Amino acid sequence: MAIFFSKLKPHHHYVILLLSFTIILCLYIDNSRVSKPAACVNRTCAPDTERTNWFCARFAPTVQLLLNSRNSRLSADVSSWWRGLQNVNRVANYTTLVKNLFQLFPNQEHCSGSHPNHCRTCAVVGNSGNLLGSRYGPLIDSKDCVMRINKGPTEGFEEDVGSKTTHRIFYPESAMDLDNSTHLVFSAFKILDIEWLISAFTTKHITKTYTDVPSTINGNKDKVMILHPEFMKYVHVNWTEYHGSYPSTGFLMVIFALHICDEVHVFGFGATKDGNWHHYFDKTLTPYANESHAGDFEYKTISRLHWGKNLLMYKGWT
Ligand code: C5P
Repeated sequence: MAIFFSKLKPHHHYVILLLSFTIILCLYIDNSRVSKPAACVNRTCAPDTERTNWFCARFAPTVQLLLNSRNSRLSADVSSWWRGLQNVNRVANYTTLVKNLFQLFPNQEHCSGSHPNHCRTCAVVGNSGNLLGSRYGPLIDSKDCVMRINKGPTEGFEEDVGSKTTHRIFYPESAMDLDNSTHLVFSAFKILDIEWLISAFTTKHITKTYTDVPSTINGNKDKVMILHPEFMKYVHVNWTEYHGSYPSTGFLMVIFALHICDEVHVFGFGATKDGNWHHYFDKTLTPYANESHAGDFEYKTISRLHWGKNLLMYKGWT
């Protein structure tokens, strides 16, 4: 080998160096392909295609997702939209309330941090009756994060909806007990909701909003995250395009997942094949078909996101 190299002319050294560099580069590229799962849905804003233009016109990567003590000041337009949702008059001062809030709850996000070598997969599980008979349970449980909505149960429905829950979104009127490891994504549609959240983890004195609400819930206060009113308005403006008075909690969770996950899988949204908008756990018709909740528009938007490969939607057993 040494004799071989000693016989080479100087310019041959450059050729060998270049060849070695090319081989190392190819190996690196190949390796990085292996470590980033091919199935990871590509939702980057590559310019100039009809699909990505629609997405990028709506997706705002820098929107405030969660309230914390540093970003709790609301701009005039966010404040006026958010206060316009209140159906219960409150005298409570927002600034004071938020101050109390972050003495009690942590000031950090719990779900960012996707890793360059790992595709962070999330399942968002809505409460639609189209889940019945789907046998999606194992597929749902195979995702890194499983995000459930309001009172959607798992017990007794494991085959169709899975049993794992890492995140649950609710508001006081749809609250339920959580286990110690589940993140609460709290959706405050009014000032009283923030008061309730503080009360539920401290004094437990609030038992009524416009209806009876639980005075407390089981849950880990260190895993509480509060959606920023700016995020809620952003979803209403950019994603539901002013349809309905405000987005449903399920739809808020879908857009939230688009922001914090690498790959979003959506289950349990929309009507059944017979056109019924009921839950998988009861036969009461939900109000999502009508304009006040914009379920139809939300469903179309999720379908559009599916078409654009920004998420994957599973339509049930039909
Ligand atoms: O009824 P509930 O609000 O608890 O359902 C959770 C979410 O699932 C809703 O916010 C809605 O986005 C979605 N859903 C749906 N179709 C149904 C029932 C619920 O899309 N039939």
